[in-house]
Amino acid sequence: MRMYDIIEKKKRGAELSEAEIRFFVRGAADGTIPEYQTTALLMAIYFKDMTDAETYILTREMTASGDTADLSALGDMTADKHSTGGVGDTATLIAVPIAAALGVKAAKLSGRGLGFTGGTIDKLESIPGFNTALTAAEFTAQVRRIGIAVSGQTGNIAPADKKLYALRDVTATVDSVPLIASSIMSKKLASGCKNIVLDVKYGSGAFMKTFDAAKALAEKMIAIGKSAGRNTAAVVSEMDTPLGDAVGNSLEVREAIRVFNGGGSRTLREMSVVTAALMYALAAGKDFEECRPLAEAALNDGRAFEKLREMIAAQSGDVSYIDRPEKFPTAKTVIEYKAEKSGYIFSTDCEKIGTAAMLLGAGRAAAGDKPDMSAGIVFNKKLGDTVEKGDVIARLYTGRNYDEALSMLDSAVKISGEKPNYKFSYVII
Ligand code: URA
Ligand code: CA
Repeated sequence: MRMYDIIEKKKRGAELSEAEIRFFVRGAADGTIPEYQTTALLMAIYFKDMTDAETYILTREMTASGDTADLSALGDMTADKHSTGGVGDTATLIAVPIAAALGVKAAKLSGRGLGFTGGTIDKLESIPGFNTALTAAEFTAQVRRIGIAVSGQTGNIAPADKKLYALRDVTATVDSVPLIASSIMSKKLASGCKNIVLDVKYGSGAFMKTFDAAKALAEKMIAIGKSAGRNTAAVVSEMDTPLGDAVGNSLEVREAIRVFNGGGSRTLREMSVVTAALMYALAAGKDFEECRPLAEAALNDGRAFEKLREMIAAQSGDVSYIDRPEKFPTAKTVIEYKAEKSGYIFSTDCEKIGTAAMLLGAGRAAAGDKPDMSAGIVFNKKLGDTVEKGDVIARLYTGRNYDEALSMLDSAVKISGEKPNYKFSYVII
């Protein structure tokens, strides 16, 4: 088999065979196919798309390129959730404990922040002592014992995806539905859960800019999950403004604690409940509408918070920070961002907001940077709110770059006399 012929075939828009896709994935991963041919095929896929059958084979081959976990000994209630990446989105820290409180075996492998988006592992590391690097054996044992674990990916999960993702990143081939779907699902299939909930974002703070693109991606991922024998569902949700009020690591953990205590942002609370209810519905084989009030109750009566505490203690984190969040160190400098005129907050460029938080130190400018856990932005006014001239819209927490971040934030937030037509929305598919 020759890579040249595979590129030629996809260039003409034909469907690749199982043997051809396997040849490509193995050769790309082990380096026997040169990167110029690998990226030529990625670009051909970007333009000519892949059928569901091709995408499933691509996913399966990427999963098989590395280690896979077998959680079947834990039964059929194992569940994972995955977000395609957002800003101010700490729903995992709330949804996973709610699901665990309902009896789901919540086994979540999370990532670090990427570009302007935040990552759950970075947020959890703001809790002193918290271990985000469980071994596969520790991870499984903890899920078996207390029904909940959130850890970073260790070991050799889908190395073929790692290779392809790095090439896509520098050849403008990230935003392709079959390539994103296979990338995400190869890692979800490798991590072994029977039930998978996908949170697919669209809008100015997401990779997919429109609802239709996000829906197409969600449908593709659901088809892959089902082909692999996993119960899979998706929430397609809008990300035109940060989900919660806080953007930044310990600031988001503190907001999550406010949600457990009955406060925090309404949209963050809603997405957390919906995600948890969907995890439980899939795992227990129940109807979503029946599960939603149960998820709400587990959040409101403190059972979910108890699960969070149990998990933090099991992973060596200092639980006193969760009980007394004022213990988290605060940033050296706090700057108020005020409304330059009265009106409505008409639009917010969510990617710019994520970038402003990154500049303050909440994310990484280069791979290997260590985020400043106390840096970020907390909003006092959100998209659609009215403001008077001089009102504080947000506070910036930082030790660095505040001039640059402040002007980035100012270019992201538009105030107008016109009321925006905005309502947070999501669709379950
Ligand atoms: N996240 C992934 O893991 N892969 C993609 O391709 C995009 C987002
Ligand atoms: Ca402005």
